[in-house]
Amino acid sequence: MTANPYAWLEESLRVIHRADWYRSVQAIQGRSGAVVQMEGRSLLNFASNDYLGLAGDERLIAAAVEATQVYGTGSTGSRLVSGHRELHRELETAIAALKQTEDALVFSSGYLANLGAIAAVVGKRDFILSDQYNHSSLKNGAVLSGAMVVEYRHCDIEHLQTQLHQHRQHYRRCLIITDSVFSMDGDLCPLLQLLELAQAYDCMVLVDEAHATGVLGHQGAGCVEHFGCTGQPLIQVGTLSKALGSLGGYVAGSASLIDFLRNRSPSWIYTTGLTPADTAAALAAIKVIQQEPERRAQLWHNTHTLKQLIAQQLPELKLLPSNSPILCLQLNSPATALKAGQYLKTAGIFAPAIRPPTVPTSRIRMTLMATHEPSQLQQLVTALREIQD
Ligand SMILES: Cc1ncc(COP(=O)(O)O)c(C=O)c1O
Repeated sequence: MTANPYAWLEESLRVIHRADWYRSVQAIQGRSGAVVQMEGRSLLNFASNDYLGLAGDERLIAAAVEATQVYGTGSTGSRLVSGHRELHRELETAIAALKQTEDALVFSSGYLANLGAIAAVVGKRDFILSDQYNHSSLKNGAVLSGAMVVEYRHCDIEHLQTQLHQHRQHYRRCLIITDSVFSMDGDLCPLLQLLELAQAYDCMVLVDEAHATGVLGHQGAGCVEHFGCTGQPLIQVGTLSKALGSLGGYVAGSASLIDFLRNRSPSWIYTTGLTPADTAAALAAIKVIQQEPERRAQLWHNTHTLKQLIAQQLPELKLLPSNSPILCLQLNSPATALKAGQYLKTAGIFAPAIRPPTVPTSRIRMTLMATHEPSQLQQLVTALREIQD
């Protein structure tokens, strides 16, 4: 046998290149903030999910260093065997207090939290309705669960209702899953209507607050708080890696949900507990977001200012509808988006092209931070002037 069973890899890479879908990593030197160092240059950073600028905050760094000195670098086992520390429980209690839920469970990433929550609460006899623009972790959680999955059109309540009407009676349990802030678009899910339909059709609702925690709501608890849905019967998932500046994920909800997940969630049971450093940094971040609401206010001020500057100076720019610090400039092909991203870089702006298969249409995705200065927002708008197609 001389055939090479891996030869298809080269061919697949050629296809990816030809479609302008090829991706590679870019290194940031030093700490990431509103300004980053890349390829030996300073660039304004509009590519980060560190919305509140906490990933470089001295208090989070000190908490991570101290936890490492006390507990060591790794948690050395799965939480149910030897990987549990009091610090994990402290963080779970803090998340539950922020979300005003009965309990919470910390996972090693937001991706694993979605996989584990979805795969635990539904199975082969059940039905999942999923917004078509949901994050990959929700989509793959749905596949992993073995449930029947139907996608409804993005934020389309009528389409969702039609699907429920047609299919709900054929299944045991039903779960509606949605991002709360859509990560590659910046718009919000219609949470109130989703909850009404869920009640009418006896469904559970899982909402992914990855881009909303620390950002939306009076206390920074997320979209659920923003829409006045605190205390509603929901499965809330989120990440510690965006506004909380650390790494890890969580599920928040009723005590029985969390107890069930501790017993049935494969991506929590069969993986090593979150490191002491990440756990302590996230705990410190929750304290900061509770004690310093002015950070969130500044993030929103920056978001409104950028939108205003664009409306005044570039009224013809095609921005996707957004109610969050995520703003997307729609472009007509992956090649145009790549070119735009490269041009922005030469103009001193880091705001990458996002292309299929991550999103259906190519775009430049820009995220605001609380730590951006007004002059930096103007610099972005000046650079954007050059890339309209
Ligand atoms: C909506 C959404 N859910 C989940 C995740 C995964 O979170 P994590 O990075 O903690 O795995 C992300 C992004 O990374 C996201 O954008």
